[in-house]
Amino acid sequence: MIVLGIETSCDDTGSAVVDGSRLLSNVVSTQMVHRNFGGVVPELASRAHARLILPVIRQALAEAGIAKGSLDGIAATCGPGLAGSLLVGLSAAKAMALTLGLPFVGVNHLEGHLYANFLAHPGLEPPLVTLIVSGGHTQLVLVRPGFRYEVLGRTRDDAAGEAFDKVAKLLGLGFPGGPAIEAVAETGDPAAVRFPRAFLGGDSLDFSFSGVKTAVLNHVRTIGREETARTLPDIAAGFQRAVVDVLVQKTLSAAERAGVRSVCLAGGVALNRSLRQRLAERAEPLGLAVYSPPPRLCSDNAGMIAAAGHSRLSAGITSPLTLAPAPSLNF
Ligand code: KG4
Ligand code: ZN
Repeated sequence: MIVLGIETSCDDTGSAVVDGSRLLSNVVSTQMVHRNFGGVVPELASRAHARLILPVIRQALAEAGIAKGSLDGIAATCGPGLAGSLLVGLSAAKAMALTLGLPFVGVNHLEGHLYANFLAHPGLEPPLVTLIVSGGHTQLVLVRPGFRYEVLGRTRDDAAGEAFDKVAKLLGLGFPGGPAIEAVAETGDPAAVRFPRAFLGGDSLDFSFSGVKTAVLNHVRTIGREETARTLPDIAAGFQRAVVDVLVQKTLSAAERAGVRSVCLAGGVALNRSLRQRLAERAEPLGLAVYSPPPRLCSDNAGMIAAAGHSRLSAGITSPLTLAPAPSLNF
């Protein structure tokens, strides 16, 4: 079954083609316009999606070497995300399904992130626990066979990527903040400045990152501009370590509690090498297998949406053409 996927939940316009478990193309056009604003501007995002969506779909088909007439189904992100952005991708998908007479399915963006690992590691099977960490989400999800998902923990305030972005901004490191902080932290000592870890009481699997963000702000105010500039690598490394420690500890606790043998990372923050390394180091003695998608499947992309859509369409699951964007969709 050949499925075209469309992803427009935030500021990446994406389209991809999968044939069974093979990814034939995965085109992502990242909107640069938001860089001037230090964050995504919803109105600009939907306008850019409207401009980019058709060229991106055409490119995905061309790179896959697939004619429209050879498609067997269309999948598009229906939420969560920005309403106007979702509307553009969903409308394109529905129009294609209608005119080509193909089945259509709306895909939960978070389920898409989970499928990045199924796409990258074909033998991988549920049950497993996935940590979805991006600019908009931080969740621990228990994945069972048959599209059954249980959220074991979620952030109570900022998403992990959002914390990276906000701390990078206050350190003057630009947007997006994750890669910038990781780069500066490279030469820093993570033990030089100790920022708080919010474990939120004994057995909670929820997260909170607003405290560590405020702690960085207070630290910078206390030591002043010159000392901040001089010790920037240590501050970045200390912050990164504090966030990674909590993410890793809770992921391992979730795996233990759910009784699974596999843990996965997904989302943009899964690109962080320190997170990947620490999780692998701590999981190994526990006999847990760790999976991460390759970089192009971590950040928002349509390959993961096409894969999740393929799985649902293969199981006979479709959505009506009246499906509306669901900005706050969850599992
Ligand atoms: O999944 P994604 O591309 O978009 C969302 O759905 O949010 O994730 C983007 C987020 C941003 O907050 C960015 O700062 C963060 O992922 N990120 C990273 C790294 N690369 C991207 N965070 C930490 N370390 C990185 N290397
Ligand atoms: Zn995402």
